[in-house]
Amino acid sequence: MSNLQLTQEGHLKHFITIEGLSKEILTNILDTAESFIGISQQQVKKVPLLRGKTIVNLFFENSTRTRTTFELAASRLSADVISIDIQTSATSKGESLLDTIRNLEAMHVDIFVVRHAISGAGHFIAQNTAPHISVINAGDGQHAHPTQAMLDMFTIRQHKHEFNTLKVGIIGDILHSRVVRSQIQALNTLGVEEIRVVAPKTLLPSHVEQLGVSVFNNIEESLDDLDVIIMVRLQKERMTSALLPSEREYFKCFGLTDERLKLAKADAIVMHPGPINRGVEIASSIADGPQSVILQQVSNGIAIRMAVMSLTLQNKEYAV
Ligand code: NCD
Repeated sequence: MSNLQLTQEGHLKHFITIEGLSKEILTNILDTAESFIGISQQQVKKVPLLRGKTIVNLFFENSTRTRTTFELAASRLSADVISIDIQTSATSKGESLLDTIRNLEAMHVDIFVVRHAISGAGHFIAQNTAPHISVINAGDGQHAHPTQAMLDMFTIRQHKHEFNTLKVGIIGDILHSRVVRSQIQALNTLGVEEIRVVAPKTLLPSHVEQLGVSVFNNIEESLDDLDVIIMVRLQKERMTSALLPSEREYFKCFGLTDERLKLAKADAIVMHPGPINRGVEIASSIADGPQSVILQQVSNGIAIRMAVMSLTLQNKEYAV
C-alpha cells in the first residue's frame, strides 16, 4: 500500500493512508501546511499554486467538514474544483465506480478526492486510474482518514510544539473509527511518548495493543497526566449489534465531564474530529470550554488539505 503512495524518488503521489509513510513525509506535510495557514487570514484568500489544475471531490458518503474544507483548500490554491453529488450521479443509476472514474478522467482531472463507505476504495481507484492522476483518501470505510489525522497532528503541534514528550488519550468508539486508526499511525510515526486508547471492551478492536497503544477500560485512570485528549463519536451507523446499554449509560461511564477533565494535565487540550454528540461522549461545557481546540481543528483542515494537494501535484513529474 505504501509503495503505491510514493514516486520512485520517494515523494508523495497519492495520500491513501498514513501507514508506511516516514516521519519526514509527515513532517513535510505539517511544515507545508504551516506555510499555508496565513493565506486563510489574508483579505484575498488565494495563491496561484494550482492554477489550471482540476480537482474532483467524489463523496459517496455524507460529509460536512471534510468536503467543505477540501473545496475551500482547492479554491484557495486557485484550482478548479467540482464536487460530485453521488446521490444524483450516474453511479446511482448503476454505472460502475470504474466507469464513473473513466468518464471523469476523460475530462482531464488532476486529483480525485474520494470518500467511500468501502475500506480500500481510494486504493482501488489509485491502482486503476491514469498514471498522472493523484488520489486523496477523504475517509474509506473503517480503514483510514489520513487528512483528518494530519490536521489533528497539526493542531497538536501548534499547542504542544514537540511530539516526543506527549501522552495522548483517545477515548470512544475505537472499533469503528477510521480516524483513530490513522491518528494512532501518525502519533506513533511522529514519536509520541504514549498513546492510550479508552473504551468499553465492546468498542475496542481485538489485539488493539498490537497497534502500539496501551488499553484502558476506565476513563478516570486513563486521564492521569494526559497532554492531549481526543474524543471520538459513537459510530452508531456502523454498529451491527447492540454494543452498548444506552447513550446515558455510556456518558456516565466514558463521557468527558468537567470533573474528569481535571484529572488530566492542567494545560491538556481537548480534541474531537466531529461531528460531536453533546452529552453522549462530551459535555457541552467542555466542547465550548477553554481547553477545547475542536474548531481550530476544522480551520486547520484547510491548510492541511492545501498541503496534501500541492505536495501530490508538485511531484507529478516524477510519477511512475
Ligand atoms: C469523521 C469521519 O467521517 O470519519 N468525521 C470527519 O471526517 N470529520 C468521524 C466521524 O464520522 O465520527
